[in-house]
Amino acid sequence: MSQPILTLDFLDQPAAPETPAADHAPSAEIRVTPATRTGRERKLYIESYGCQMNFSDSEIVSSILFSEGFDTTDDLANADLVLLNTCSIREKAEQTVRMRLKQINSHKKRKPGMLVGVLGCMAERLKSQFLEEDKIVDLVVGPDAYRDLPRLIQEIDGGQRAVNVLLSREETYADITPVRLNSNGVSAFISIMRGCDNMCSFCVVPFTRGRERSRDAHSILREATDLVATGYKEVTLLGQNVDSYKWMAADGSEHVNFAQLLEKVALISPALRVRFATSHPKDITDDVLHTMKRHDNICKYIHLPAQSGNSRILALMNRTYDRAWYEQRVLKIREILGDDCAISTDMISGFCSETEAEHEDTKNLMEWVRYDLAYMFFYSERPGTLAARKLADDVPLEVKKRRLQEIIDLQQLHSATRNEKSVGRVYEVLAENFSKRSKEHLSGRNSQNQVIIFPKQSFKKGDYVKVLVHSSSASTLLGDAV
Ligand code: SAH
Ligand code: SF4
Ligand code: F3S
Repeated sequence: MSQPILTLDFLDQPAAPETPAADHAPSAEIRVTPATRTGRERKLYIESYGCQMNFSDSEIVSSILFSEGFDTTDDLANADLVLLNTCSIREKAEQTVRMRLKQINSHKKRKPGMLVGVLGCMAERLKSQFLEEDKIVDLVVGPDAYRDLPRLIQEIDGGQRAVNVLLSREETYADITPVRLNSNGVSAFISIMRGCDNMCSFCVVPFTRGRERSRDAHSILREATDLVATGYKEVTLLGQNVDSYKWMAADGSEHVNFAQLLEKVALISPALRVRFATSHPKDITDDVLHTMKRHDNICKYIHLPAQSGNSRILALMNRTYDRAWYEQRVLKIREILGDDCAISTDMISGFCSETEAEHEDTKNLMEWVRYDLAYMFFYSERPGTLAARKLADDVPLEVKKRRLQEIIDLQQLHSATRNEKSVGRVYEVLAENFSKRSKEHLSGRNSQNQVIIFPKQSFKKGDYVKVLVHSSSASTLLGDAV
């Protein structure tokens, strides 16, 4: 994985300076696709916002456009085609893209032939409205329409502006091999499904990404096997709700659920680490937990977003579970996998009508679970969602922000205590990158997803190294190879 290029909005993320990017979720990260130099005539610049799913899609887009005669460039001023792969999850994410479009406009003025396109969730949400509002945008393409890019580019080359935001019930890009431009050559992401059928009332994803569909299990296994053959040591299976993965062969002869898929990927090689995200608390099965237990190479880390610790708020959020159900899932994880399985969450502060007492419930759930990691946000109303249509966004911004700061502070405490407990222990770490601060140190993660930094010695990226932890902070562990 590459290093983040820019980090925005400190309130959007826990401080985690050495964390090798959030696996799953909306990060406040922006990625620029690195350059390829294969002598192709035109230059494509892609900047990606939002979640890992978008970063994965940019690899698919690069692959499609590579076949159309585009090399990628990381120099915006040098680009013939500039694409922003956008996120709509919170208002702030959209504002960032709008500001960026203004900056790009000034480049375009200097290079009049430059074409500008908007991809991803914001393209899907705003559709042709983009062309009306933003005069510099030539191309608007939604997440299910990337195969149509060659045709759309021909249209804009011919001087027209082009839009395709059709959502699909089938598209999974199963047969397109992503070009892994942002990869460290050690860990890769594999999309196993697209879209989402849950209608969490705050969430725009079902509108921007369409219906849930699972990718052909054989194409997933092929992709993972190919990655292993080219030296990769870790794959993360990606979906908005991986536990509802369900694939059936066209002739009905084969059915694969998530627990079965996980096992099949784990069996490819014992030297391949397998991670997955995101798990929805209503769907994660005991079967998945037992599969994790059976295979040492399935990492003991579950991202299980609670969103709130209060059952009335959970009902308003349409999460379809209550606090008791959530707690029972956590107990089951601990029963089957023990305390060594890390659990993380997403939390939203200041959702519609949330009272101080209900906010306290989120804090006491955090106290009860003692999460290893949390991504925390204040509620941002999204047009068209159930909450925007039916509920008043009535918690004042200052209150949302104060509550958010309280849960961030609490989590910092929990993360720091959790990390202190790791001091004196030995972990198997997969070396993923140089440490950001020193080329003499390597950075990697243990099975529980804790980031561990250690002196490089003669180790290299991709090695499994046993590391004794000698000190810790809230975000990172430091140690020495033993
Ligand atoms: N599919 C994942 C979440 C994807 S979005 C899941 O169900 O857990 C990632 C996170 O962004 C969510 O878990 C939620 O915490 C946050 N989020 C989504 N919509 C939001 C909104 N309108 N305001 C604030 N945070 C939001
Ligand atoms: Fe959004 Fe809910 Fe789907 Fe997650 S499960 S993407 S929060 S609608
Ligand atoms: Fe991801 Fe943002 Fe879309 S979080 S699914 S890019 S709205």
